[in-house]
Amino acid sequence: MVAAADPEEGKKVYRQCQACHVADKEQNRVGPHLVDIVGREVASVDDFSYSDALIGLGGEWTLDRLNEYLEKPRDFAPGNKMTFAGLRKEEQRASVIAYLQSLDE
Ligand code: HEC
Repeated sequence: MVAAADPEEGKKVYRQCQACHVADKEQNRVGPHLVDIVGREVASVDDFSYSDALIGLGGEWTLDRLNEYLEKPRDFAPGNKMTFAGLRKEEQRASVIAYLQSLDE
């Protein structure tokens, strides 16, 4: 899904994330920066104060986990602080992940 997705579409979807996240440099807003997010360890930005719910997940952000988290943040990690309803459409999730990935190349 992500491989076939269009990062340019994802850039538009990313507007919904921008209020809270910076993806092109290591700067935190309401949420942690998203530089190198694909494959990054969960809850690993040093100077960001994560919820216990997110810390408790462990492991790293694989494509599958990002896809699941972004569909329904509340269900994926109950009690986490990302107050974002989620992206219902699979194409939107795939394209925004492709966009984030494209920034890391
Ligand atoms: C209203 C603010 C807000 C919006 C909008 C938002 N986020 Fe978040 N996001 C957060 C917060 C706050 C956290 C930290 C959650 C915690 O610690 O429980 C977070 C965490 C994350 C993480 C985990 C980062 C890590 O270091 O483990 C990812 C990935 C993420 N957001 C992606 C996105 C994407 C992609 C979008 C847009 C589709 C988005 N977020 C929209 C606030 C937001």
